[in-house]
Amino acid sequence: MDAFIIHGGRRLRGTLRIHGSKNASLPLMAAALLTDEPVVLRDVPELSDIQNMCRLLESMGCEARWRVPHSAVTPRVVTVPAKVAVAGGGGGGASVAMGGSSGGGSRKVGAIPRAGSGSIDAMLAPPEDVNELTLHVTDPTSSKADYDIVRTMRASICTLGPILAKRGFARVSMPGGCNIGPRPVDLHIRGLKALGARISLDEGYIVAEAKRLRGARVFLGGPFGSTVLGTANVMSAATLAEGTTIIESAACEPEIEDLARMLNAMGARVTGAGSPRIVIEGVDELHGVDYTVMPDRIEAGTYIMAAAITNGDVILENCPIDSLVAVIDRLQEIGVEIEVPKDDCSKVDRLRETIRVASARRLEPVEMTTQPHPGFPTDLQAQLMALLCLADGNSVITEKIFPDRFMHTAELLRMGANITRNGPTAMITGVRRLIGAPVMASDLRASAGLIIAGLAARNVTTVHRVYHLDRGYERMETCLQQLGADIERVDRD
Ligand code: EPU
Repeated sequence: MDAFIIHGGRRLRGTLRIHGSKNASLPLMAAALLTDEPVVLRDVPELSDIQNMCRLLESMGCEARWRVPHSAVTPRVVTVPAKVAVAGGGGGGASVAMGGSSGGGSRKVGAIPRAGSGSIDAMLAPPEDVNELTLHVTDPTSSKADYDIVRTMRASICTLGPILAKRGFARVSMPGGCNIGPRPVDLHIRGLKALGARISLDEGYIVAEAKRLRGARVFLGGPFGSTVLGTANVMSAATLAEGTTIIESAACEPEIEDLARMLNAMGARVTGAGSPRIVIEGVDELHGVDYTVMPDRIEAGTYIMAAAITNGDVILENCPIDSLVAVIDRLQEIGVEIEVPKDDCSKVDRLRETIRVASARRLEPVEMTTQPHPGFPTDLQAQLMALLCLADGNSVITEKIFPDRFMHTAELLRMGANITRNGPTAMITGVRRLIGAPVMASDLRASAGLIIAGLAARNVTTVHRVYHLDRGYERMETCLQQLGADIERVDRD
């Protein structure tokens, strides 16, 4: 089993390009089940969750073909797909060369250097040499999502809506809980039932049937707010329903907007995505598309915090700053310098920007509560906690999405942090230094938090079980090495 060995204390400097988003890619991939034509997805990250989704789609008769220009992992099949309708997250899919990621940052925070072509406007789309994944349904006879795949990846549930809408039948294994909490799917089921699906549970499988779904008003509010993948499921299914669907209390996350953009480029009629009310007018069929996935806001936020904890100076390209407003706000509050391009309001979405992150002093404490978007994302809570372990005073973090998502605290304590937890709230008293130790990753974002702590800790930190990390961060050790970190991957129990 792989582990990371980190010799902490190196300031991160240099430039990094943010990859395409995992959490946007997964429902986009599932939406390929809605059409008989090929769906080409660009800038899909090479991650184990993505590979698992490919396996799942293949088991449902959807071929998955990769073209990976700079693979660390051997591509499974390499082909160049036929071109279909072109669209792209937040700024068109036409390919514009963005230039390299070379050059290091200096200690002084000055004007952001324009990469490559000399214009940030030229960075609306990713460079030509990004990963390309083509998904094409060639055999629609199997509509089953097997337990063996679903148990490895909870997001498999987002195939339920598309497959039901397109084929009239779905049998999807009920996902279990995971290390961040119980994670029910009642809202997904409620939403699809409202569209007329007959749903039952059979030997751990959700069995859903409907000759054709019917548009309806659907309420997706739950005890912890809306549901991201539930909204993706219902919105995708409603594109092929008869009549109009209105989703009330829809998730407002940027990944839902990205999905709506792609569905519309496939011929769907979705309005309001990104707000709590989404209106979908059903159509008879959807066609193929060539779509560029939005950049990963959680990966961006993670590297921002890695730069901050090491008193680094880092430039991040392809950064979705519009989806990081709450994160940037909290980090600026504690003293991290984040320089973003001037907002002249000429762009609707600022999804592919270049930013500079620097920190030259001890950070201030802060209060933060995780919330649905546009609030502070739960997926960056562990990373912020690691950063606040070294702040000058008492910080308070309240987790309102997954109240038990605190497995990382016990590991941070082993590194000398001072954290007390009371239910969904943790108080972090900043210490002068963290001391490296062997620690155990328990889930994807907890792993990222421990790595951030290790980058700043004295001596050596060994983070075990980084397979959790590989679910959601493409080659993190390579990215951090590129920024000057002393980190290596080893094979260790
Ligand atoms: N919830 C219900 N009933 C449901 C569904 C959700 O009560 O039917 C509750 C959950 O228990 C939770 C809250 O609603 O308390 C929000 O859960 P949500 O359904 O929004 O989570 P999700 O869609 O399953 C996605 C991301 C997660 C991210 C959450 C919250 C993907 C693939 N996953 O999960 O990402 O934490 O939204 O933003 O998009 C990660 O990337 O590490 C990760 C866990």
